[in-house]
Amino acid sequence: MLNHDIIEHIARHIEQKQRGKLSVAVFASGGGSNLQALIDFSKTDASFFSVDCVVANNPQSFALTRAQQAAIRHHLVDHRAFKSRALFEQELTSILKNTNVELIVLAGFMRVLSPVFLRQYHQRIINLHPSLLPKHRGLNAIEKALIARDEIAGCTVHLVDDGLDTGPIIAQSSLTILQDENLETLTTRIQSLEHGLLPDVVNRIAKVVITRDFF
Ligand code: GRF
Repeated sequence: MLNHDIIEHIARHIEQKQRGKLSVAVFASGGGSNLQALIDFSKTDASFFSVDCVVANNPQSFALTRAQQAAIRHHLVDHRAFKSRALFEQELTSILKNTNVELIVLAGFMRVLSPVFLRQYHQRIINLHPSLLPKHRGLNAIEKALIARDEIAGCTVHLVDDGLDTGPIIAQSSLTILQDENLETLTTRIQSLEHGLLPDVVNRIAKVVITRDFF
């Protein structure tokens, strides 16, 4: 499922600061496999975007190593080092101010961003979630699908709004849950869908921005 209207909506909110590929920042907290999928895609001839900045809020995040290996500027902004969410977000803002970033991709970023931060990148922040939203918002979404005995599971890329996993859906990929499926196998299979879906969505947005080829 792919929502062209939302892709166009996001693209209309992006004013390219520089010519060339769309400049993307990726925020992550964990292993960064989705960051890797974005980096790998961005290096192909088909790509209309480049990953120019990586932010992790967790010193253990392997996303930082992946960014370093790909020679992408990266920043650890450990939320625990800040007295308030506002101060944490001020640091994020000051990092982004020194870049040409036009689109923020939350790829396994486990912090909620406040409306104050969202306003600065109004309609230009997207999130990846491991369920077929609106089902199973919030934490442990894959476990929730198993507990609910769902027949179908998957992942969603959506525009971020003030709610938790509530923004307009841009695209989804789904799979059938197998009879002997467990958390580990289902997580692996959903992540594999994510690695295809997320770069595809980012590239579709980037293509509209760069070519100004609105649908
Ligand atoms: C992904 O499954 C994503 O849907 C969820 O967190 C996971 C991040 O994985 N929000 P990774 O850090 O990209 O490997």
